Amino acid sequence: MEIEKERKISAGSYDLNRFLYGGYEKDIITTIYGAAGTGKTNFCLLTSVSLAKKNKKVMFIDTEGGFSVERVKQLSGEEYEKVLGNIILLKPVSFDEQEEAFSKLLREIKKDEIGLIVVDGMTMLYRLELAEAIKEKSESRIREINSKLAKQLRTLAEIARTRNIPVIVTNQVYSEFLSEEDFKAGKQREIHMVGGDLLKYWSKCLLELKNEKGKRKLILRKHRSLPEKSLEFEIISSGVRKRGWLA
Ligand SMILES: Nc1ncnc2c1ncn2[C@@H]1O[C@H](COP(=O)(O)OP(=O)(O)OP(=O)(O)O)[C@@H](O)[C@H]1O
Ligand SMILES: [Mg+2]
Repeated sequence: MEIEKERKISAGSYDLNRFLYGGYEKDIITTIYGAAGTGKTNFCLLTSVSLAKKNKKVMFIDTEGGFSVERVKQLSGEEYEKVLGNIILLKPVSFDEQEEAFSKLLREIKKDEIGLIVVDGMTMLYRLELAEAIKEKSESRIREINSKLAKQLRTLAEIARTRNIPVIVTNQVYSEFLSEEDFKAGKQREIHMVGGDLLKYWSKCLLELKNEKGKRKLILRKHRSLPEKSLEFEIISSGVRKRGWLA
């Protein structure tokens, strides 16, 4: 169990830690993906608060403005000042700024004892930039943007593996529009991750979040040592818990 603990960080919730056999693994990228409002940012904040409480520094890159000081206060209780003091928050608003945030990350990694890296909204700014390039029909720009995202992910994977610093990234999913032909042929509408292949390639753990008619569900899609499984959960003021528990 000690060895397990060394290899993982707490997800910040008793039930999530049980589900993940101790929490998120330290030497890999974990990707949490799902539609808007499914709880991605909450999951990121939970583990961040848990680490920051233990006086570990958290590098939190927020591309979507999802980071809420109020929510951090709720999750931290009396220790919120210490928690906020241990979170280095970067808020890039363009893909260029995201690149800069990565340069800063590499500098901080050298001097600070970073215990966790979070990129909440890994492909959001990439997507905007890509849309521009597509509009311009600029093949070279499209290639450049894709290679930048790939390089960022490779950097994160390397930091995780060589420095043993866990990395959590989130990704929004969108539903694909079907052509009339496919629709008539009865083809299912599939949910795809944006920049999805890259993220799937670089993440050794994939967690999907769903909210179906108010029922929240966490699905373990890919893991190095656990089978695919799921957990119904709810978001409460103190965090995340398995559904069905009495308050
Ligand atoms: N204190 C709380 N108690 C109960 N539910 C809460 C609380 N705080 C937030 N929530 C719920 O969490 C959900 C938002 O989750 P979150 O912001 O983590 O989603 P997300 O997947 O990051 O969405 P997006 O893709 O838009 O960034 C909302 O449904 C909100 O009602
Ligand atoms: Mg969010």
